[in-house]
Amino acid sequence: MKTILLIHGPNLNMLGKRDPKHYGSLTLRELEKQVSAEAKKHGFKVKAFQSNYEGGIIDFLQKNAPKASGILINAGAYTHYSYAIHDALLDTGLPAVEVHLSKVTEREDWRAKSVTAPACVAVFAGEKVGSYIKAVEKLAEIIK
Ligand code: DQA
Repeated sequence: MKTILLIHGPNLNMLGKRDPKHYGSLTLRELEKQVSAEAKKHGFKVKAFQSNYEGGIIDFLQKNAPKASGILINAGAYTHYSYAIHDALLDTGLPAVEVHLSKVTEREDWRAKSVTAPACVAVFAGEKVGSYIKAVEKLAEIIK
């Protein structure tokens, strides 16, 4: 079975408690379960990881990408300024899809910019867990 890496960046470990208006009421564990169930329908298994540290995310990508087929990433605030995560995503050579729970383009100006998106094949945002479901479908289309 092919593996998709599901990566969450800083503060996303607080889902469920954190700003439910923007991020919904699911905990990170519940969100990961729903994404895994969707991925399974397409014949993928999910390896999930969360870190509040940029280097932790890069280490995870470097270690796990060689055995994976695709990446689903919500890098949290790192999305908006981490060129290091952009480079790490590119270096995997894998199709990556960027996701956001909230409507990043309709909030503060700085959230509208993604420096990681150019390393990704698509971005889905603003639909809470629905953004992730679309991302899994996108990966399923690409990964043969
Ligand atoms: C987020 C949006 C980011 O701007 C924010 O820093 C997050 C979550 C989202 O899922 O909507 O941590 O990526």
